[in-house]
Amino acid sequence: MKLFVFPRWTNKIRQIAGLGLGVAPLYLTAIVWYGFSPKTVDAGYMPKQPIPYSHQLHVGELGIDCKYCHNTVDKAAHAAVPSTATCMNCHSRVRAKSPKLELLRESCEWSDETRTCRDDGKPIPWVKVHDLPDYVYFNHSAHVSRGVGCVSCHGRVDQMVEVYQKEPLSMGWCLDCHRAPEQHLRPVSEVTNMTWQAPGDAVEFGTKLRAENNINPPEDCSTCHR
Ligand code: HEC
Ligand code: HEC
Ligand code: HEC
Ligand code: HEC
Ligand code: HEC
Repeated sequence: MKLFVFPRWTNKIRQIAGLGLGVAPLYLTAIVWYGFSPKTVDAGYMPKQPIPYSHQLHVGELGIDCKYCHNTVDKAAHAAVPSTATCMNCHSRVRAKSPKLELLRESCEWSDETRTCRDDGKPIPWVKVHDLPDYVYFNHSAHVSRGVGCVSCHGRVDQMVEVYQKEPLSMGWCLDCHRAPEQHLRPVSEVTNMTWQAPGDAVEFGTKLRAENNINPPEDCSTCHR
């Protein structure tokens, strides 16, 4: 019979946490977070969204670039989710009466002169899909501007009718790539391309890019816990 006192992962944390007192608050946060979050191992997590927006349609079929909507992804830590005005740029005319776009119209009184929403529009309450615990620091531009493509971390978004979390986003997953990033590197111009293939051997090509651009993802704790 197995007594379920502490799950096995707590041993690992205690070992790590034992390394220094400095990590103790982190340990506590982790325990609390693990205890209360319903979506701890959340690969596959796919919450319902307020509008049935489809990446498969807009990216896969219409061919809109990620950066048209997520326009801070190569400049900032966070990848902005688009404002209502970005959608209304098209939907003030395209499918303007669709019942599926009711919420969009409610949140934005469109002006054709300024091509924005009067009153800036109310934000759509999109539900966050990917959500690291607060004690982890992540930065999009540090990856995207060094040639790590969206597809490496988010999967084939262009085929997703509803976005789901493809990868575990665990510490082990981050470190696996930080230790050997070669197979995930591509020219910066191709980061939003979902179907890009390395010419020839991917690891060989990535190794070359890594050397040319002096890419060395750090592994010390303070990189991601600060
Ligand atoms: C570059 C133009 C463009 C932008 C920007 C755009 N869409 Fe669309 N959208 C389209 C087109 C084209 C269709 C397909 C229309 C059709 O099937 O005839 C569509 C279809 C849709 C549909 C399905 C409508 C229906 O009645 O079936 C939804 C929902 C939708 N878009 C939501 C959004 C949201 C939300 C945004 C902003 C995040 C957005 N769109 C941004 C062009 C755009
Ligand atoms: C026309 C606008 C538009 C384009 C183009 C677009 N997205 Fe999005 N994206 C959205 C909207 C709106 C949401 C929030 C609703 C949702 O999750 O479906 C979103 C959500 C996401 C999320 C989940 C965010 C979270 O909450 O964790 C990811 C990841 C994502 N997009 C990646 C991409 C990638 C990669 C591309 C290009 C291949 C792309 N998107 C192109 C509008 C867009
Ligand atoms: C190295 C992995 C990685 C790459 C590359 C990456 N993302 Fe993300 N993305 C993440 C993680 C991790 C989160 C959750 C961040 C958090 O919770 O703080 C996230 C969250 C998001 C979100 C939700 C908003 C936010 O910032 O939390 C959007 C939208 C998104 N990514 C779009 C993109 C797009 C578009 C690209 C490519 C241009 C991209 N991502 C490249 C790992 C990545
Ligand atoms: C697919 C590969 C990959 C994955 C997955 C990945 N990273 Fe990275 N990371 C990189 C590369 C490449 C760099 C850039 C290194 C450079 O510029 O020399 C980087 C840089 C960073 C930096 C900036 C470091 C600095 O000081 O310049 C942070 C912070 C970071 N990563 C955090 C994370 C976190 C947190 C995760 C997991 C949620 C993660 N990364 C997952 C490849 C990856
Ligand atoms: C490249 C980014 C990265 C680096 C470097 C990193 N971590 Fe983490 N760490 C994470 C992420 C992401 C999580 C969240 C895991 C989850 O949500 O499952 C995490 C979670 C943790 C946790 C919570 C429990 C667990 O095991 O998931 C502890 C404790 C921890 N890290 C300690 C450390 C220590 C000590 C170091 C240095 C030896 C370190 N981390 C280096 C990304 C990193």
